[in-house]
Amino acid sequence: MKILILNGSPTPNGNTIALANAFKEGAESKGHDVTLVNVAHKNIKGCMACNFCHNAGNGTCVQKDDMQEIYPLIQDADMIVFASPIYYFIMSAQLESVIHRFYAINAPEKAKYSALLLSSYSPNVYTGAIAQYKDMIAYMGMTDRGIVTADHTTNKTPEKLAEARALGESL
Ligand SMILES: Cc1cc2nc3c(=O)[nH]c(=O)nc-3n(C[C@H](O)[C@H](O)[C@H](O)COP(=O)(O)O)c2cc1C
Repeated sequence: MKILILNGSPTPNGNTIALANAFKEGAESKGHDVTLVNVAHKNIKGCMACNFCHNAGNGTCVQKDDMQEIYPLIQDADMIVFASPIYYFIMSAQLESVIHRFYAINAPEKAKYSALLLSSYSPNVYTGAIAQYKDMIAYMGMTDRGIVTADHTTNKTPEKLAEARALGESL
């Protein structure tokens, strides 16, 4: 499968990228083709709700920012993985911007599967992010293949990274 990981953490060598890299390693060990994009380091604006995409734009976004390089990756993927730190009980604004910009295409063309990787400081702060993720992927026609969460007691521990790697290997 072609797997696209959208990493919404701005922290290089942080907890979220550690989960994402472990997942990637596991998936690649099973022969999957994995692309990881650090979306927080891109210039990606929020949706302007102009509806150009649903009218004259015919599925293309009027905003010509770095999302233009992400759209083809989304359309080419069989699986999309959302990786994010928890910011005030939801995914990061940087990743939310990317999610809102799915509006232009409504749903990925091919992707049938999805996964969620979350890192936080506190435990049990995932209700909002997981609820959004589940509703969103159901709307987009994707099936969840697994959710990994890590808090300050488990971030970057060998056990947690093994869990993320195992999820990648399970695909
Ligand atoms: C703006 C901001 C908001 C945060 N909000 C929460 C929160 O609501 N709950 C929590 O447990 N941790 C919160 N954190 C902590 C991060 O989720 C946590 O440190 C995470 O491991 C960071 O991942 P990273 O290393 O990829 O940046 C917040 C951090 C920041 C910077």
